[in-house]
This record gives sequence, C-alpha cells and structure tokens, in this order.
Amino acid sequence: MKKIQSLGLGTAAIGRPHYINIRQQKGQDEFALSEFRNQGHDLLSKAYAAGIRYFDTAPGYGMAEQLLIDWVKEKQDPTIELATKWGYTYVANFDKNATVHEMKEHSINKLNEQWKQSQKLLPYLTTYQIHSATLETGVLENQEILHQLAGLKNEHHLKIGLSTTGANQVGVLKKALDIEVDGVQLFEVFQITYNVFDQSAASVIRSITSENKRVVIKEALANGRVFPNPKYSNYSEAYLQLSKLAEKYSVGIDAIALRFCVDSVPVFKVLSGASLDQHLDGNLKMNSFSLDDQELQLLKSFKVEPIKYWNERKLLNWH
Ligand SMILES: NC(=O)c1ccc[n+]([C@@H]2O[C@H](COP(=O)([O-])OP(=O)(O)OC[C@H]3O[C@@H](n4cnc5c(N)ncnc54)[C@H](OP(=O)(O)O)[C@@H]3O)[C@@H](O)[C@H]2O)c1
Repeated sequence: MKKIQSLGLGTAAIGRPHYINIRQQKGQDEFALSEFRNQGHDLLSKAYAAGIRYFDTAPGYGMAEQLLIDWVKEKQDPTIELATKWGYTYVANFDKNATVHEMKEHSINKLNEQWKQSQKLLPYLTTYQIHSATLETGVLENQEILHQLAGLKNEHHLKIGLSTTGANQVGVLKKALDIEVDGVQLFEVFQITYNVFDQSAASVIRSITSENKRVVIKEALANGRVFPNPKYSNYSEAYLQLSKLAEKYSVGIDAIALRFCVDSVPVFKVLSGASLDQHLDGNLKMNSFSLDDQELQLLKSFKVEPIKYWNERKLLNWH
C-alpha cells in the first residue's frame, strides 16, 4: 500500500543547526556551513525520490528557504508545491552559542521585506502563510496586512494560509475562518499542531476540510516527546501502547505517530520534520499500513489538556 502523498517535508531542522527538540546527544563542536547546506540539499532530493512533493519552509528557518529556491530550480518539476511563511527573522547567524534564534514581527514592513525574497520560490510557491498567527500580535485584525495578502493571492494565484501554535489554536483558527477581504474568505491553508498528545484542534480540522480548505499538520511527533523518555513519566502508558503498535506494524514510533494524524482527522498533508536520512526513512514507513478504529480510539485516549501540552513545550530547549 503506497500512501506517500500524505507526507510533506518541513525544513526547519535542515535550515539551521539548532532547533527545539529533546535531543539527548551532544552535537559536534565544529559546525561547517557548506557541509550543512549539502546535507539539506541531499535530504530534499531524498524526499523527492521517495515521492514527497510538498515542502514547507520559512525565512525564520535559517538557510532553508534559499536551499529550496536553489534546489527547486534544478528539479524543474511542476508537481512540486512549496509553502513558505512570513513573520519570523532568523537572527542566530548559525552561531552555536546564540541565545536568541528568531524574532517575531507581524508588521506590514516585515511582510513586504520577506516577500521580496520569498517570491523567488515562484512558480512552485503555492502557499503563503502567516508564521504562528496569534490573537496577541493583532495580525488577524490588521487590514493593511490582510489586503496585502489578498493582493498577493490574486496576483500570483497563491493560497493564503497561517500556522498556529499554543494553547489557543482553536480560537485563532475560528477567527481566521471568519476573515473575508472584498467578500472572499482569505485563508485556505491551516498549518496546525496536532498529535497523540494535543488533539484540541480535531473538530475544527474536520470543519476546515469539509469546506474544501487544506489542513497541514506540524509537530506530529510532539517535538520528539512521542518517543519513550523517562523525563515524561506522565506519558508512560502512551509509550507502552505506541511501542506495541510499532512492533505490530514493524515500524518505528515515528511512523505510528504520523499515521495517527492522517487516520484520525482528514488532512491534506502531515509534515515530516526529519533532518537525518534515517529519520526520513522511518517517517516514510507511515505509508506501509493504516491504523484501525480500535487502535485510533486507544491513541485518542492519550490526549492531554492543551495548556499542559504547551507549558511542557515551552520548557524544551534549542539543541
Ligand atoms: N509555527 C510554525 O509555523 C511551525 C512550528 C513548528 C514546526 N513547523 C513546521 O513543521 C515541520 C515539522 O515540525 P517539527 O519538526 O517541529 O516537529 P516534530 O515532527 O514533532 O518533531 C521533530 C523532532 O523530533 C525529533 N525526532 C526524533 N526521532 C525522529 C524521527 N524518527 N523522525 C523525525 N524526527 C525525529 C527530531 O529531533 P532531533 O533532530 O533532535 O532528532 C526533530 O527535531 C517543521 O519542519 C516546520 O516546517 C512550523
């Protein structure tokens, strides 16, 4: 059974050497930028060879957007779809000692500045998103920004989207769904955190898909928290059951967690966040099986309150 089309590749981890996760191994002391760029390029090609055609990026992901601009020109394949975002600037300059990695700014100036670079992804760019839209930044009420996005949508035939993060994803998604510019709904793509532990967006995901809009799932592995870890004894029963399912289907826990996302809610894509070949190989195994109703019910029972989930995520470090 081949279901490769439901997996997309997120490029956050191939664009910058540090990322939010629970990595326990120490990285190398020396960081070689050109080697890192080559590894990223090779991972994109490996994903492509495996049938992945949807790639998600952002200027906040270090060199990832430029990597895609260069790589997609080599491929020249019109079936490739690229999605990028605006609103975060990468500021760590690939310095392993940096304490600040990215700066958020939901202003019209930032949108215009980042679009100048992101438009180089055209004509493969199909999706342009607000990066981590929240109610607090006021971006969903900023008429100048909303009209500018509608203008880009019309001029370049883009789908306008947003990614959400935090305990109030549902509130942000509902507000976004109500936004119209000149009588037309603005947002068509919703990149949402959904996984075995945070299922808070499940019902809104169903209604978004029923309106023929796209849902893309991110953080399907809960930043690595789906893998058995003594630090999270609260998930010990989930770890046991995830391990049993992994054994049953002869795959890793990553494949079970990714499969959970596509079998439990109707989604357009689920993003792999892999930066290593072996992770991508493991993630692709989600295409070899499906979870049955009983297994889905079991995994659904491991959901936690979003506030608890996101407080736990806030404590994760950049590695
Ligand atoms: N606000 C936003 O818009 C936003 C936020 C987050 C993500 N995203 C998008 O979603 C994509 C995926 O999200 P994500 O990578 O943050 O979340 P994720 O898939 O939940 O977590 C991936 C992390 O899990 C660890 N991991 C351990 N074993 C793995 C395996 N077998 N396969 C893959 N990862 C494994 C990796 O850490 P190690 O490298 O330490 O092994 C990796 O950094 C991103 O690349 C990005 O495109 C968007």
